[in-house]
Amino acid sequence: MEYCQKDGIVFEGYSPLAKGHVLSDPVVQQIAKKHGRTAAQICIRWSIQNGVVTIPKSIKKNRIQENCQVFGFQLDEEDMVALGNLHDGRHVTWDPTNVE
Ligand SMILES: NC(=O)c1ccc[n+]([C@@H]2O[C@H](COP(=O)([O-])OP(=O)(O)OC[C@H]3O[C@@H](n4cnc5c(N)ncnc54)[C@H](OP(=O)(O)O)[C@@H]3O)[C@@H](O)[C@H]2O)c1
Repeated sequence: MEYCQKDGIVFEGYSPLAKGHVLSDPVVQQIAKKHGRTAAQICIRWSIQNGVVTIPKSIKKNRIQENCQVFGFQLDEEDMVALGNLHDGRHVTWDPTNVE
């Protein structure tokens, strides 16, 4: 991300909802409750506030609408840090770490 942002390359989040696996996480749930939003909206908002383009996928109309409603609120610094600390090395898709 730092490399891309430094060189003006748009960075896109792949599987921004971790294919749905992260939505039941207690930290995500607690932040969702605090803001009166859904877990998916919290995850999408986190990507946006990190300057990351995010393309969540859903086959359900109501979820697509829900996933678009992410502009009327702001995660605070404490939320951003808590969400940023969630990564535990798991991957839900291919691992780009070793791509050259
Ligand atoms: N950039 C690329 O090169 C590339 C390549 C391939 C694919 N993609 C795209 O990347 C996107 C990522 O999709 P992804 O499937 O990997 O991961 P994702 O967006 O992280 O997760 C999608 C999963 O979350 C569920 N979901 C979506 N919104 C939800 C909500 N509001 N509440 C509860 N569950 C929700 C979906 O279920 P339902 O569908 O049942 O709602 C689906 O199971 C897709 O649009 C895909 O087409 C990009």
